[in-house]
Amino acid sequence: MNLNIAVLPGDGIGPEIIEEAKKVLNAVAKKYNHTFNYEHGLVGAAAIRATGNPFPDETFELCKKSDAILFGAIGDPEFDNNPKAKVRPEQGLLAMRKKLGLYANIRPITTFKPLLGKSPIKAEIIDGVDILVIRELTGGIYFGDRGRNESDNSAYDTCTYSKAEIERILHYAFREAMKRKKHLTVVDKANVLETSRLWRETAQEMALQYPEVQLDFMFVDNAAMQLIQFPKRFDVMVTENMFGDILTDEASVITGSLGMAPSASAGDMTSLFEPIHGSYPQAAGKNIANPMGTILSAAMLLESKGLTEEAEEIRRAVTSALEIDVVTEDIKSSSKMSTSHVGDWIAVNIK
Ligand code: IPM
Ligand code: MN
Repeated sequence: MNLNIAVLPGDGIGPEIIEEAKKVLNAVAKKYNHTFNYEHGLVGAAAIRATGNPFPDETFELCKKSDAILFGAIGDPEFDNNPKAKVRPEQGLLAMRKKLGLYANIRPITTFKPLLGKSPIKAEIIDGVDILVIRELTGGIYFGDRGRNESDNSAYDTCTYSKAEIERILHYAFREAMKRKKHLTVVDKANVLETSRLWRETAQEMALQYPEVQLDFMFVDNAAMQLIQFPKRFDVMVTENMFGDILTDEASVITGSLGMAPSASAGDMTSLFEPIHGSYPQAAGKNIANPMGTILSAAMLLESKGLTEEAEEIRRAVTSALEIDVVTEDIKSSSKMSTSHVGDWIAVNIK
C-alpha cells in the first residue's frame, strides 16, 4: 500500500515522539512492502513563531490532500503563563479539528499485562479492561460563544449542541458498539444541563434503530468514579467534548501511564492520529518522553487503512518492550532508557 502521511510534530516533546513513530512505521513498511511518504507541516506554538498562525493554511492544505495525519502534541508554557496572549497554540489544534470536521475522537482504554502492577489501581480491578471512549470533538463548550463582560467583570463560556451533531456522534458510537460487546453508555449531566437532556432524548430515540445494543446512561460524576472502581463494566462510552477530555485523562491511569494512550479522530475528511497526552514541555529536548502512545497511534492509523496485521505487529512489539522493561521513566522511575532507545528497540523487533 502507498500512503501519504501528513506529519505534524507540534510542540514540546512532539518532534521526539513523532520521530519514533516514523521509525516504527518505516520498519512496518519494509517488512510488509508498503510505501509510506511523509510530508511535514507546522502546527501550534511552532507555527505561531514561524507564521503567526497556529494552524496555517499550508498545513490545512497538506492535511486535506494526505491519506492520514500523524500528530504529536500542542502547547507551550510561554502561552499558558500569559492569559492575555492573543493567539494560543491550542487554537491550532481546535482549528484543525473543526476545519477537518474531526467530530469523533476514539480513545481506546486497554491494559498491558506487564503494566498491571504499575497502575495505582489494583491489578484485579483493571486486568482485562477494554473500553472504547468516543469523545465528541467539534462541539460543546470548546466551540461555544465565550467572552468577558467588562461591565460586571465576569466571563462566560457556553455549551451548545445541535441535534444533528448529537445524532452524528451517537450513530458513530452505536456502530462501534455493534462491532464489540454491544453495550453503549452515554455519559452526561442530564440532571443539570439542557444539552445533556437533548443528548439523552436523542439517544433514546435512536436506540430503536439499534435494538441489539444495550444502551444505558450515566451522570459524568458517577462515571468518573465507576471508571476507577468497576472499569470492566464498560464497553463503549460516548460523551460530549469536555467530559470526554477529562474522563480519558482519568482512564489513562488504568493503562498504566498517560504516555501509553493512543487516539484517532475521524470525520468528514482525513483522519488524524495522536497520543492523548500533551506536549510535556518540561521534558522537551531531553529524550525522556514515552513514545509508545504515538507509536500505538500509528498502529491505529494502519488499522484504519485495513492493515490490521501490521497494527497487531506494532502492538506485539510494544508489549514485548514492556515485558523486558524497555521503557521510559514514566513507566519505571529507575529506567534510564531514552525515547529514541525505546523507539529503536520497537522498530528492530518489527524487522
Ligand atoms: C486533548 C488535549 C486538548 C483538549 C488541549 C491541548 C486543547 O487536552 O487532546 O485532550 O483539551 O482537547
Ligand atoms: Mn485532554
